Amino acid sequence: MLAFTVVALKGGVGKTTVTLGLAESAARRGLRVLVVDLDPQANATLGLDPPEVRFTTSDVLADARDGIAADAVTRSGWGPSVDLVPAEPALEHRNRPGDAASALRLRRALRGVADDYDLVLMDCPPSLGEITRNGLAAGTHAVVVTEPGYFALNGAEQALEAITVVRDNSNLRLRALGIVVNRMRSTVSEHKYRLRELEEAYPSLLVRPPIPERSIIQRSEGAGVPFRANGRSGAAVGAIFDKVFGELYDRAQTGVNR
Ligand SMILES: Nc1ncnc2c1ncn2[C@@H]1O[C@H](COP(=O)(O)OP(=O)(O)OP(=O)(O)O)[C@@H](O)[C@H]1O
Ligand SMILES: [Mg+2]
Repeated sequence: MLAFTVVALKGGVGKTTVTLGLAESAARRGLRVLVVDLDPQANATLGLDPPEVRFTTSDVLADARDGIAADAVTRSGWGPSVDLVPAEPALEHRNRPGDAASALRLRRALRGVADDYDLVLMDCPPSLGEITRNGLAAGTHAVVVTEPGYFALNGAEQALEAITVVRDNSNLRLRALGIVVNRMRSTVSEHKYRLRELEEAYPSLLVRPPIPERSIIQRSEGAGVPFRANGRSGAAVGAIFDKVFGELYDRAQTGVNR
């Protein structure tokens, strides 16, 4: 079983978009996917449009008994290949700093549950607080998301440091799997420059192709449907995510990463 934790230090760079895009591509490949929404904003939950929500990641982290996440698993609106552990605003209360043991609550709660899936995708909130630490402690791999802007290199560096800290303290199996660049506009020379800069700094981590800026992305997420449900431009975005997912999945399976 693989579990990718999608992280970034900054808000709004595309963690949720990448989580949803990877979920779509993985399901298309025939994998059984569980998305765990770890953000109190619950954007991934909205994007997956579950028909019913009973318990959430807030309840799961509060309880944290072995395997308790099973009670919160619900169907998504995307069909039988993608299930969800939804989030709710109350999850914010679980973001208070804890000790080393409290970072392992999610991992314990997912024990056994994750085995029913080929891939678990965890969408983290935009900070390195307690919830993100729980997400990283429960993952096999971390995927860093960044925009091709001025702080991209710095942000990726900090995220990778945070991954190393969690690995050393609570999850020795955790590996940084890749850096995904989102909102790329290839006509903007600054973006091309930042992409090259990231690639030079992290040749084995940078994932190509970058995800372009496309209005269909926002529209699909707002409608709670996969990108491919949205015509030709949605299919084009889906095809890009297929490549990104393929690259990450191959790396994870062959252990080619840092
Ligand atoms: N490549 C893109 N093209 C167009 N819009 C995008 C793209 N990526 C993300 N967006 C939009 O930008 C907004 C922020 O993206 P997203 O929610 O994925 O970021 P995030 O990192 O998860 O944010 P947060 O830190 O708040 O959780 C969303 O409305 C999303 O639809
Ligand atoms: Mg998000």
